[in-house]
Amino acid sequence: MKVLVTGGAGFIGSYYVRQLLGGHYPAFAGAEVVVLDKLTYAGNTANLAEFSTDPRLRVVRGDVRDPELLAEWMPGTDVVVHFAAESHVDRSISGASDFVLTNVVGTDTLLQAALAAGVSRFVHVSTDEVYGSIDEGSWSEGQPLEPNSPYSASKAGSDLLARAYHRTHGLPVCVTRCSNNYGPYQHPEKMIPLFVTNLLDGRKVPLYGDGKNVRDWLHVADHCRGIQLVAESGEPGEVYNIGGGTELTNAELTAMLLEATGSDWSMVLPVTDRKGHDRRYSLRYDKISRDLGYAPRVGLEEGLAETVRWYRENRSWWQPLKSHEGAFA
Ligand SMILES: NC(=O)c1ccc[n+]([C@@H]2O[C@H](COP(=O)([O-])OP(=O)(O)OC[C@H]3O[C@@H](n4cnc5c(N)ncnc54)[C@H](O)[C@@H]3O)[C@@H](O)[C@H]2O)c1
Repeated sequence: MKVLVTGGAGFIGSYYVRQLLGGHYPAFAGAEVVVLDKLTYAGNTANLAEFSTDPRLRVVRGDVRDPELLAEWMPGTDVVVHFAAESHVDRSISGASDFVLTNVVGTDTLLQAALAAGVSRFVHVSTDEVYGSIDEGSWSEGQPLEPNSPYSASKAGSDLLARAYHRTHGLPVCVTRCSNNYGPYQHPEKMIPLFVTNLLDGRKVPLYGDGKNVRDWLHVADHCRGIQLVAESGEPGEVYNIGGGTELTNAELTAMLLEATGSDWSMVLPVTDRKGHDRRYSLRYDKISRDLGYAPRVGLEEGLAETVRWYRENRSWWQPLKSHEGAFA
């Protein structure tokens, strides 16, 4: 079996590859894995260092928008798991072009190559942000998409293209829409690692607006297990929400991170709210639970404690990323 993982050097993609090669997905035991990754600022081969000499892994540096490269690496692929994306909302507010190019054009190029190669499964990794913002209740998969940021709009474009390749061409596509992830190897531009690494350095953390925006948090291990269930036995053409059932305001999450790092509220710097900041995300994930047996396993307190420990013990991984990025100073 050959599995092509785009964006496999990023946060979630690399977790998925490490789990797969580490034997945690027995249905894919012995699979050959090709990671196709542009290695942008967010991609890091150090995330796969543990398997750098493993003959089952090939890491190909390249762009999902490159049809010639895809014509070289896609043939013979059984399963595509498509993580590659520009993924940071704040960057999409400063400039959306790369988001449209990678997330929309890149996904289309990849879908075309997968169709030409006749792959037997294409898992498109989407996000709950495509639904927009919800004041009460929770989204199920039939909810109309009303994305509000350039990031989520570009993800909605790719999500709908993936669905269209199933409807139009019969490509066996499944789409997953997951809530906010956290865990090891997440780039320190994202909220949890930004706050943890700032606090470990004795620096303040920037809290947007009134701190009452609500997110559903899920450990990356649970997200990857949901993706794997979909890769193994999802129904082609179907969308699966993957949630954690752990909703917190940003202020509540901040309080947990302060406690986990032995800091107090004096380390919080209120900052002007993000433009167009979605107020609340909330997912129903009963479909994947009922149809594929998914349930989140990592409790938030345990997962956060493990994540804080990882950042504490792996300063050499994140410190160079922060010193290159003046924006987080
Ligand atoms: N992080 C979350 O909380 C979350 C939640 C739900 C869904 N998602 C989705 O999961 C996927 C992975 O997210 P992440 O947090 O790991 O992102 P990430 O930014 O950490 O990783 C993205 C990876 O894609 C690569 N990449 C970017 N442009 C590329 C291109 N043109 N060609 C090839 N590779 C390219 C980068 O080098 C990087 O390795 C994304 O599609 C994202 O939308 C993320």
